[in-house]
Amino acid sequence: MNPLPHFPLGNTGLSASPLGLGTVKWGRNQALKHGPFELPDDKALATLLDMAVEAGVNLLDTAAAYGIAEQRIGRILGQRREQFLLFSKTGEIFADGQSRWDFSAQHTRHSVQQSLKLLRTDRLDGVLLHCPRNDVEALQNSPALETLAELKAAGLIRSIGASVTTLEGGLYAVPLCDVLMIAWSIGFHEQQPVIEAAARAGKGVLLKKVFNSGQLALPADNGASSAIESCIHPALRLPGHPVVIVGTLNPAHFQENIAAARSATLHL
Ligand SMILES: NC(=O)c1ccc[n+]([C@@H]2O[C@H](COP(=O)([O-])OP(=O)(O)OC[C@H]3O[C@@H](n4cnc5c(N)ncnc54)[C@H](OP(=O)(O)O)[C@@H]3O)[C@@H](O)[C@H]2O)c1
Repeated sequence: MNPLPHFPLGNTGLSASPLGLGTVKWGRNQALKHGPFELPDDKALATLLDMAVEAGVNLLDTAAAYGIAEQRIGRILGQRREQFLLFSKTGEIFADGQSRWDFSAQHTRHSVQQSLKLLRTDRLDGVLLHCPRNDVEALQNSPALETLAELKAAGLIRSIGASVTTLEGGLYAVPLCDVLMIAWSIGFHEQQPVIEAAARAGKGVLLKKVFNSGQLALPADNGASSAIESCIHPALRLPGHPVVIVGTLNPAHFQENIAAARSATLHL
């Protein structure tokens, strides 16, 4: 099977597959909407990474707040590092089952250095502000984006941006970011104007919650291709070649998602 094609991620100079792999479930199983689950072992994660390489899925989305996800990616990735764009996030701190946020310059620098160390790399392909509900406050009244821009100028990050939560925050962030992460699913189009504005401005777009964090009525394994396609195809038809970030621990689900991304790209 041919690998997925790659498309420019806005004007970042990076090229990304239309499907990316989300990793929150690789490192954390508390305070998530996905229902109870056991953290996977390293062998299961290596299998997912091998599948990704074979299919041409080249973007891994992670975050400092995803428990032990970054350290596990760093440990397991090994020689596969150059096959992937590594995107992480800063600003949210998850500890003792709870999130808090710190967008100070000092924390932003420390968090990026920590991500580089845990991911065992000297350069992150993207770092996004991991915004809380009140994303406008974090974007407007903190030095975090400015600090990320300095780290980009120093060569530690190739693109910077924000994972936003509101329409207002998203529209505010577009001119300030290289890449935005935006929630979109077949039942949730509230932030579509942000996707359109980002596409017009040449900004990269990562789509989160395309299966509504697993809450969409997806059929059980096998025979699910049309339901999966009905989520992934319209997402990939949005302007600007967005990357659909889906998290899965299940190789069969990953294969379905890859197949849906592949069939979508036949019509792009
Ligand atoms: N604030 C933020 O920046 C933010 C917020 C949310 C998510 N994210 C990113 O986006 C990624 C995706 O998370 P999400 O919350 O947006 O979840 P999602 O992609 O909407 O849904 C993921 C859930 O759907 C299930 N799933 C995946 N493929 C499936 C298939 N083919 N058939 C049936 N079920 C399937 C997965 O369960 P199985 O493991 O059983 O397949 C998983 O529980 C995260 O890992 C993270 O990287 C970022």
